[in-house]
Amino acid sequence: MAASFGVCRLHMRGRGSLVKCFQKIDLCLHRNVGTDVVAAQSEISRKEETEEKEGSKSFYTVQEERREQAERSVLISCPHKINEKKFLKYLSAHGNISKYFFYESYGTYAVVEFANQGSIASIHERTSIPSVNHECLVPFKSRLLTLRSLGPTDPPNRQSGLQCQPQTTISINDLIKRLSREETINQQITFLTEAYQLTEENIRLRFLVCSLLKDIAASYFPECTIRPFGSSVNGFGKLGCDLDMFLDLDGISGRNMKMPKAGLALEYQMKHVNSERAVTQSILSVIGKCVDRFGPGCVGMQEILNARCPLVRFAHQPSGFQCDLTANNRVAMKSSELLYLYGQLDQRVRCLVFSVRCWARTHGITSSIPGAWITNFSLTVMVLFFLQRRSTPIIPTLDHLRDLAGPVDKSVIEGKDCTFVSDFSKIRLQNNTETLEHLLQDFFEFYSTFAFSRASIDIRKGKEQNKPEVTPLHIQNPFEPTLNVSKNVNATQLERFVTMCQESSWLLQQTENSRPRGGNTAAPWGLATILLPSQAAVLKSRKNRKRVPASERIKSLLDSLKTKNQQPQG
Ligand code: GTP
Ligand code: MG
Repeated sequence: MAASFGVCRLHMRGRGSLVKCFQKIDLCLHRNVGTDVVAAQSEISRKEETEEKEGSKSFYTVQEERREQAERSVLISCPHKINEKKFLKYLSAHGNISKYFFYESYGTYAVVEFANQGSIASIHERTSIPSVNHECLVPFKSRLLTLRSLGPTDPPNRQSGLQCQPQTTISINDLIKRLSREETINQQITFLTEAYQLTEENIRLRFLVCSLLKDIAASYFPECTIRPFGSSVNGFGKLGCDLDMFLDLDGISGRNMKMPKAGLALEYQMKHVNSERAVTQSILSVIGKCVDRFGPGCVGMQEILNARCPLVRFAHQPSGFQCDLTANNRVAMKSSELLYLYGQLDQRVRCLVFSVRCWARTHGITSSIPGAWITNFSLTVMVLFFLQRRSTPIIPTLDHLRDLAGPVDKSVIEGKDCTFVSDFSKIRLQNNTETLEHLLQDFFEFYSTFAFSRASIDIRKGKEQNKPEVTPLHIQNPFEPTLNVSKNVNATQLERFVTMCQESSWLLQQTENSRPRGGNTAAPWGLATILLPSQAAVLKSRKNRKRVPASERIKSLLDSLKTKNQQPQG
């Protein structure tokens, strides 16, 4: 269950047209009101400044800042009709609040970030353990708290009445309607990106959940860190995406400590285990059990320890996140950094990835269930490859990014060279001015005719390579060139992808789909058309109605659709 969470965006990342906030949607966030307005305003401008700067900050700087903010934060379940002013006054007794927001997830919750770490200790000192009648409690003191409203309730006119709404992304039907009201395909793509991407608050909540889980793991490994990776941090996360985390034990002191040449020295006695994998499995198994038994709000624990990358999976109810906790997963963290970097280089990268991911999900090309489908990660790499293959490339190859790396960027993980530049300012982009509309159209065209049977997709070289194995789809793992990230994809799924690319390419070429339909009804057009389900049937009926002058490619597309439109959607 990948439950979703959303809060209303106040402002977006500080770049180009993505900066603007669309006052929307069915998501909610409640900001300071009344006397707190000034404080809130100054907080907002500070945050805007931060976000403006974030564009140039390295991935690890951003991660570290967010991790540190989360350490100073608490998550509080609030009474439904909480008086915001009273709430703030009460909590301010523990220290200055630097940031807070409310959201709904089976009840009203608040994330409160204090200015100083000392406030957390103060909260722990003055928070009581609830008394229960018929059950027993595990007395684990976490930073997930409940605020009780004691004594007489406030009179109605003194209640702030937080208007929390369900935290979901805009539904596909609403998205199609909303897109159809835009005036250009470029605007549609931008709207989709803004509606789907993670909000600032959602990202903060993700880091807070990692921090809460770290508190549990720290009972065994006091110096550990739990870090989010994947779409929570790589810039391509959609509201509601899972929370991938890894338990980082590399930072614990004592590793690589130089032994004196003479005299006495102490060493830890440690358990010996057969392999790194066995260590990972046993740590995850124990931490998973602790999270399951002691972690408030953590339910549905599954141990998936025999997977290529062992993990434990559970739901964190207060946030609504489905969580995957792994250990020893530094290469995946590097992949996340690489994707983040590509997404920051040019805003068209994220827009195109969001559109293609949304398109793929709508047509069942990707799925939240593991199987022979193309994954979001593979799909993202395919978009990056396409952008490298433009006649004027929009993004550089991974080899080029490695060549630009300085000594601080050197990274070899388990023998794999994961080195690439982290300082964006060293990267010079070429002058490509293609529009998003053009790129989306060409993406479908590119993969409609791609030689999947003999070529491999390789973002390291930015060129097709000869396929080293006979799997239907071959996408080289960026940091482990001998591995194929799409090994799971079978011929049927690849064929569906290609068919849908052909169909969408054809649809976007039709003049009637290239601009708003006009009239009072916002009939689907442009990007909305390719998100509609089962276009094959529509195409077929159009073919019967009127024959548009067609190239050989379109004719063969229509023929292939005729035979393939009976395939079930996955
Ligand atoms: P969502 O579908 O939004 O969760 O996208 P995601 O990018 O988070 O994908 P997922 O949760 O499946 O995987 C998390 C991260 O693990 C990815 O972002 C990659 O960094 C890494 N990853 C996933 N699949 C592969 C793979 O097949 N090979 C490698 N090397 N890394 C992978
Ligand atoms: Mg993920």
